[in-house]
Amino acid sequence: MVRILILAALIVAVIATVTAAILGPWGWWILAVIFILLLIVGIRDAVQPRHSILRNFPVLGHARYFLEEIRPEIQQYFIERNWDGKPFNRDQRSLIYSRAKGYKGDKAFGTELNVNEPGYEYFIQSIAPKAVPDLGHRVRLGGPDCTQPYDASLLNISAMSFGSLSKNAVLAMNKGAAQGGFAHDTGEGGLTKYHRAYNADLMWEFGSGYFGTRDKDGQFDPEKFREKSNLEQVKAITVKLSQGASPGWVVCCPVPRSRKKLPRPAAFRWGRPASPRPATPHSPPAGTDSLHRQVA
Ligand SMILES: Cc1cc2nc3c(=O)[nH]c(=O)nc-3n(C[C@H](O)[C@H](O)[C@H](O)COP(=O)(O)O)c2cc1C
Repeated sequence: MVRILILAALIVAVIATVTAAILGPWGWWILAVIFILLLIVGIRDAVQPRHSILRNFPVLGHARYFLEEIRPEIQQYFIERNWDGKPFNRDQRSLIYSRAKGYKGDKAFGTELNVNEPGYEYFIQSIAPKAVPDLGHRVRLGGPDCTQPYDASLLNISAMSFGSLSKNAVLAMNKGAAQGGFAHDTGEGGLTKYHRAYNADLMWEFGSGYFGTRDKDGQFDPEKFREKSNLEQVKAITVKLSQGASPGWVVCCPVPRSRKKLPRPAAFRWGRPASPRPATPHSPPAGTDSLHRQVA
């Protein structure tokens, strides 16, 4: 019923404006053309079988698609509060942006947050101040038997594999880690030349795919492991017992652009699944111990 009313209204509008254009000033043609176009759109909407909204509300239904289109912008500019967004809200993002551009990142006292809300976490000063530890805000990795302990920052760059990011992201993180004096975890995608670009401290991670330390058959290569773990930059090694984020065939990606960027193309065979690996001599739980002994 609404459909017929809309189309009927458009037909009346077309007849009225065309008549006015013929009998009156030429300016009516502008309106007439607009109504003719709307009528064409309305007829097309009314007969098409795919979208029920457009079929039932010809012409008017487009408003809904338009509003849906601009919904994110409306949400972001008018509705979302400075502290709503996830994983980073607007306040955090603007702080990061200004620091990244070298502007002052300090914030004045005061907050928009409800700090009295249950679950709100914050630091309060101690009533009995302690001396600043010699190590600064660092924690020692390596027990009494460790010949090269590492005093790691409390905040570092967590593992994100090369394949999940890009050369530029790895370079940016490495540069940031070098500037900030914290460590950059390579993630399980291998230790590439990009991880070494700015000489930041590295935590080298490898998983059951052995990226960065595999031979051409995809097995753990002790020699490669020795060579990389002895790099001055490698301060700690993370062994990921269960390879995670790369289901199925991801490293077999046949796209040439990706091939070029992969850290060690020679270390695996194209077209063969390499990650995650269903079973290796080091698979947990039985193989974990032997891997630990070999790595140590
Ligand atoms: C893009 C991306 C890649 C990741 N790659 C790895 C990885 O290679 N190895 C790993 O142990 N964790 C990996 N993670 C997990 C992160 O190291 C981290 O544990 C996880 O993101 C949770 O921390 P968050 O809550 O601060 O994001 C990855 C996470 C992201 C977002």
